Amino acid sequence: MADVLMNLRFSVACAIAREAGQLIRTRFLARDDALNFKFKGPQDYLTETDGEVEQLIAARLSASFPDDAFFGEESGGEVGDSVWIVDPIDGTADFARGVPYFCVSIAFVLRGKTEIGVLYDPMSDELFAARRGHGATVNGQPIKVSTIAEIRQSVVELGWSSRVPFERSAKVLEKLHALGAGVKRRGSGALGIAYVAMGRQDAYCELHINSWDAAAAVLLVEEAGGWVNEFLTKECLTQGNQVIVCTPGLRGWLENILNV
Ligand code: IPD
Repeated sequence: MADVLMNLRFSVACAIAREAGQLIRTRFLARDDALNFKFKGPQDYLTETDGEVEQLIAARLSASFPDDAFFGEESGGEVGDSVWIVDPIDGTADFARGVPYFCVSIAFVLRGKTEIGVLYDPMSDELFAARRGHGATVNGQPIKVSTIAEIRQSVVELGWSSRVPFERSAKVLEKLHALGAGVKRRGSGALGIAYVAMGRQDAYCELHINSWDAAAAVLLVEEAGGWVNEFLTKECLTQGNQVIVCTPGLRGWLENILNV
């Protein structure tokens, strides 16, 4: 019975991610939010579409699963034993500035463990989905992390935000460069982590990221055979945490490098 309900949650989450993604795509192509964004904090963008999409996702989830709690980036909420953690648009800065690199992120967390992780990138039409113990897929095709184990051969994405003093992130950046990693930084932590799950890059790290940005994507990496730090602690749900995801062979390197 519990498994039937989890299967239902999984397929409903995939359908909602696609529906929400279509709405984001429509707004993006119409450029409704062009030059019409606000800031929640330093470099922390907000558009009307963020709120609109979060409301849509919350309404759909509560109609299907009225007993589950909801916690979203824009409206907050309750963190219960069974809770949906949602980022309506991860990569809002790019969305607001007309750059087509962002996604919807939906995670289902049961007693502190992520059971379902779904991301949808409406511009590339890629649905990333994972269920604990059932593997990870992109548009239904199984995915795996890469086999890279040498830092000199790796592509590592390092995210940062004004939530952490830049000197700390700069130290990590310096160490990565010194060891010969190919360092990237794009505008969506969720997609950056998903790209590790499918081998487009070998690691993603950030000294602080919020649960709504990373909870769903981290499960993709676990289910695709990668290594993930103890990300989703109790405090992380509401306060965020450091995140490191990588191929199993890069774990030692990255744990050392992030130790700043
Ligand atoms: C941000 C993005 C960014 C990451 C930040 C996040 P938002 O989320 O994921 O890549 O580096 O830590 O806050 O604001 O686009 O939802």
